[in-house]
Amino acid sequence: MHTNDLTALKSWFEAYCVSFSTPVAEDQRNITIKQAHTHEVCKNALRIARALRLDNRQALLAETIALFHDVGRFSQYRQYKTFDDTISVNHAALGAKVLLENNVLRDLPKHDQDMVVRSVTMHNVYALPEGLDESSLLFARLIRDADKLDILRVVIEYFGQDAGSRAEAVALGLPDAPGYSPAVLASLQRGEMARKADLATQNDFKLLLLAWLYDLNFAASLHMVRERDYIQKLAATLPRNEEIAHVVDRVREYVQGKLNVS
Ligand SMILES: [Fe+2]
Repeated sequence: MHTNDLTALKSWFEAYCVSFSTPVAEDQRNITIKQAHTHEVCKNALRIARALRLDNRQALLAETIALFHDVGRFSQYRQYKTFDDTISVNHAALGAKVLLENNVLRDLPKHDQDMVVRSVTMHNVYALPEGLDESSLLFARLIRDADKLDILRVVIEYFGQDAGSRAEAVALGLPDAPGYSPAVLASLQRGEMARKADLATQNDFKLLLLAWLYDLNFAASLHMVRERDYIQKLAATLPRNEEIAHVVDRVREYVQGKLNVS
């Protein structure tokens, strides 16, 4: 694919977003946040692609995947008024359907079309399937890192805002209760990703995001975590106690350790 293909796809995406505009302020905030998220994920993807020294065609493909990774979020929100897949629809599968039904990728080579659809579909799975070919694995890992990095930004910004100006769907409708779940904490203590099914409070969601750092694939992604101070910023929103301090330290040491050997 070429630069002008990406330019045309970006125009399609902007027009698609506009088609979901609504006069309902809360709904518009949730739509706008996903549009802005997409732009930031594109930037993250490009930065990782450059750090990996991918060639121009591969970098364009990585950015295209980033552009469309959450294209399913718009109709998901319009129909269900939530970003919680567990009570609505798998937004990644829906995104692939949107791309195919609208024939959005028709001008790309077939191989690139398939790669975009496959990467969009896999961007939100808990773990990637075994046996992926080298190229599919690269693009799937890249979008997963680029996406996680920006979700950290979105959530940190969300918790920094007053209740009245928040895009409420960001916190998945979880209650802002003081506690957190033992299962989520245990995942972090084991150095593993937490499961969405275990989330019961907003604190669980924050802990889940911290646990995502164990799943980042590239040194460039860890550099961005450190550079943007995501661990500290997220930790500052969590309850202050020894258990939490311990898992935060553990994640921080993990990131630091990975950066030291990269
Ligand atoms: Fe997503």
